[in-house]
Amino acid sequence: MISTINRLPSLLDQRVELTGWVDNVRTSGKIGFVQFRDGTGYVQCVFSKGDVGDATFETVKGLTLEMAVRVAGKVVKDERSPSGVEVQGTACEVLAPSKEYPISNKEHGVDFLMDHRHLWLRSKRQWAVMRVRDTIERATVDFLYENGFLRLDSPILTPNACEGTTELYEVDHFGRPAYLSQSGQLYSEAGIFAHRRVYDFGPVFRAEKSKTRRHLNEFWMMDAEMAFCDFEESMQIQEDLVVFIVERVLLERRAELAMLDRDISALEKVKGPFPRLTHKEAVEKLHTLGSDIHEDEDLGGDDETLLTQEYETPIFVTKYPAIVKAFYMKRDPQDDTRVLCADLLAPEGYGEVIGGSQREDDIEILMNKIRVHDLPLEQFQWYLDLRRYGSVPHSGFGYGLERLVTWMCGTKHVREAIPFPRTLTRLEP
Ligand code: 4AD
Ligand code: MG
Repeated sequence: MISTINRLPSLLDQRVELTGWVDNVRTSGKIGFVQFRDGTGYVQCVFSKGDVGDATFETVKGLTLEMAVRVAGKVVKDERSPSGVEVQGTACEVLAPSKEYPISNKEHGVDFLMDHRHLWLRSKRQWAVMRVRDTIERATVDFLYENGFLRLDSPILTPNACEGTTELYEVDHFGRPAYLSQSGQLYSEAGIFAHRRVYDFGPVFRAEKSKTRRHLNEFWMMDAEMAFCDFEESMQIQEDLVVFIVERVLLERRAELAMLDRDISALEKVKGPFPRLTHKEAVEKLHTLGSDIHEDEDLGGDDETLLTQEYETPIFVTKYPAIVKAFYMKRDPQDDTRVLCADLLAPEGYGEVIGGSQREDDIEILMNKIRVHDLPLEQFQWYLDLRRYGSVPHSGFGYGLERLVTWMCGTKHVREAIPFPRTLTRLEP
């Protein structure tokens, strides 16, 4: 029967035919062990010369890494393999050659691997990371759908800045400047007046010259926005979303997490309620941990690492100084110098994965903030219309998909969390 590797555990003792690629091959005397990958999983096929005959065994001996092959055999138990099965090969046919595959089982430097990203994606760890990413994307969409959000995708070409002007990619729009979107948030805000709860999910662009393990120039963001919602309620939704995603990853991707040597118990501890600290409290705590952060300063990457190493669940840091945050955040009625915002920081040193806030709904204050941030008022007239016609309290947040993937996979650098990363030094492949 024609099958795929993921179905083999239910096909014990049956004869199957599989198509895929050679992941590894080792022959010793009269036995050939072929690690075989078909996209749905990995399985070992064992060929014994005595059973398959000389011709087939010669084919097995001639296999090289990444050849496309068709194999046939019987599914048998194998306690040592993660799936519990292996295939006793009976036939092996080469479908396409692969001569001197550049990525061997030796150690390669990360630059070499990134130059070969189009091939590196086939490697086991990368395969596992992309499958976790897929689960996070699907869990997100399922959660939002179940919680009454409508997907309303935002444009990528925009006439203005969302998160500040210093990180904009400018492109030429028929003689007019246009900018690649940094976040769909402002458009999601328009959407809530028609649909109450909306989200978008797509690539965003930041022309930052950062070379940290947390920064990409192109990454995927999900922006959620809710009408009649204050920032406390928004935090609750974020917490529920993150717990939901972690549960789904633990349910669907245990094998992949094991391949990544991820400490699963760390993820199992991700349960609400997540601790909430004000920025002021976070700064005080950071001082006791040895940081010299100023009380009016944004948390830097190192501060986030230091702070979140202290926690087993994500934490919210709320009410940052207004001067370090975007123009649209609502001022704290109790303290004019602060805004009603929250960043969600992942534990184990991972740091910010979500940024969100209540939005300024008072048109006068908002216009003033646009001026103070030196943004072009005329380009924001459409956004100000949202405060002119039926303005209501509303909040929203945006997550960085690659930051979540990196945290859940326990990997180091966000560049491995996206199929084809774009960074300061990398545009290829
Ligand atoms: O905190 P940020 O800049 O927030 C916004 O853009 C808001 N407009 C979102 C909203 O309220 N709808 O970005 C949101 C998230 C961050 O928390 C982080 O996870 C991720 O996007 N992020 C990056 N990920 C990778 N590389 C970068 N350069 C990133 N910058 C932000
Ligand atoms: Mg942020």
